[in-house]
Amino acid sequence: MTETDLRELGERALEEIAGAGDEAELERLRLLYLGRRSGLISRRAAALAQLPPERRSELGREFNRAKQAVEEALGRRQAELALGAAPPAPAGMDLSWPRRALERGHQHPVARLIREIEDVAAALGFESVRGPEVEDDRHNFELLNLPPEHPARDTHDTFYLEGPAQGWLLRTHTSPVQLRTMMAGPPPYRIIVPGRVYRRDNPDPTHNPVFFQVEGLCVDEGVSLADLKGTLTYLIGAIFGPERGVRLRASYFPYTEPSLEADVSCGFCRGGGCRSCLGKGWIEILGSGMVHPQVLRNAGLDPERYSGFAFGMGPDRIAALKYGLEDIRDLYENDLRLLEGF
Ligand code: DAH
Repeated sequence: MTETDLRELGERALEEIAGAGDEAELERLRLLYLGRRSGLISRRAAALAQLPPERRSELGREFNRAKQAVEEALGRRQAELALGAAPPAPAGMDLSWPRRALERGHQHPVARLIREIEDVAAALGFESVRGPEVEDDRHNFELLNLPPEHPARDTHDTFYLEGPAQGWLLRTHTSPVQLRTMMAGPPPYRIIVPGRVYRRDNPDPTHNPVFFQVEGLCVDEGVSLADLKGTLTYLIGAIFGPERGVRLRASYFPYTEPSLEADVSCGFCRGGGCRSCLGKGWIEILGSGMVHPQVLRNAGLDPERYSGFAFGMGPDRIAALKYGLEDIRDLYENDLRLLEGF
């Protein structure tokens, strides 16, 4: 067996295949050349195996080339024969015209960011859950230490439902899912909750009446502020990349004590201060804290035994920061000219 030998065999096969007049003949040729044991090409494999290694690899290459060419020719001729057997194309229709390329979509930048956050949190053991967008006052406010007269309620300009749905509202944040989760079964909880929230804000470059949040909650025995700091630092680092700084600041939320806000260093000035961060060098990206003992009690948990942390962030704002969008509304208007750029 030589290279020439193999090449000539291959060429002869290609010629015969191209001339095959029907499927039966094509099948006969397939068996003749590629039949499993006795095919003229297939059976050369056994001879190949007997050769010394360096010769085997040289000839092996020619063998593979011939075999592949014959397989392709068989497929091609089969398609030609099938087409020939089909009814003729209607007048004016050219079946050989190349098909139009299908346009492929991709994930919306906010969906992609939420998926990214869920993936990072999943690696830390957080399960992704959902909650209702239509809530009651109790879960959205009261159980979170926001009684009717609480001043913090002023910041939530809320869409209240009317008519038969009186008493219900469109959730102003994803925090009510903390309560729903804790009231549904015993600890430990480690959840991440992405979803839409609603506020009676006038649309402007940094506000939209509908936007997204991702809530996190971790409650167990012995969960400490150090766990919160570690989790946030890791999560933010994974989302923004290791070169961005993370800063935690004391803050206030009625449902956490102590409360923290997390900032990430500005991506444009790297902390020096510029127009985009209003000279501060840092951009606020989430609220968090240790779950308030009264909130645990509201959920039926003993704060002497259990403790935990919670956080809430806005993936739209983060996406806008990450992709350098000046107007957050660009994310909701579904203008393909813009979205295709991501
Ligand atoms: N619910 C807050 C908001 O809508 C965000 C938030 C702050 C969530 C602190 C939390 C938290 O879970 O602990 O702005």
